[in-house]
Amino acid sequence: MEFVVEKTDGDTLFRLVLGLVVPRPIGWVSTVSREGVLNIAPFSFFNAVNDEPPVLMISVSDRDDGTPKDTVRNILETGEFVVNLVTEDLFEKMLVTGEDFPPEVDEFEKAGLTPEPSKFVKAPRVKESKVSFECRLFRHEKVYDMHLILGEALLISVEDGIVDEEGRVDYNRLRILGRLGGKYYVRVLPECLIRAEGG
Ligand SMILES: Cc1cc2nc3c(=O)[nH]c(=O)nc-3n(C[C@H](O)[C@H](O)[C@H](O)COP(=O)(O)O)c2cc1C
Repeated sequence: MEFVVEKTDGDTLFRLVLGLVVPRPIGWVSTVSREGVLNIAPFSFFNAVNDEPPVLMISVSDRDDGTPKDTVRNILETGEFVVNLVTEDLFEKMLVTGEDFPPEVDEFEKAGLTPEPSKFVKAPRVKESKVSFECRLFRHEKVYDMHLILGEALLISVEDGIVDEEGRVDYNRLRILGRLGGKYYVRVLPECLIRAEGG
């Protein structure tokens, strides 16, 4: 099958892109509003675009009514955010934070998550998350209707026992979660790992 983009409707393109560009990592982004309200939401249009220094990207749509989501509003207002990673044990809580709550609602409280002070930014980390990147806004661009947010990481914090001193990751312990299309997710289990030999 082939889909000529110009002749394909938006819902189908959405399903194709989200279903085929997989598995995607999930950036669980915590921010704080100018008024001090904590916010957290998951984004699977998420990846790294540079390593030295680390620069991460998320891509965020506006709400149906055309207003920016709280994450974007907070990042543009404060210039700071934290990207936490989602592991198997946090699946249900992550789903709660994907719901659309009004700006005055503390989503940490809603999901039963513990905010932990960050070292370099005002936005808190998620205590329950095994990995957090404290980021300063590097650039904000529009890509058609999406907000492309690039953040430069100032600090990477990793729970003890998951990486060694030189940064090598133990995937048996990380148990990271990935996003597929529709309502599907994927676990990275030890028995599913494939190790490339040589090179
Ligand atoms: C696993 C998952 C991944 C998501 N990825 C994105 C994404 O990449 N971009 C986006 O705009 N929304 C994405 N969403 C939806 C947002 O998380 C949702 O709109 C959220 O309510 C935004 O919250 P906020 O208004 O507090 O920023 C995703 C939701 C889930 C559950």
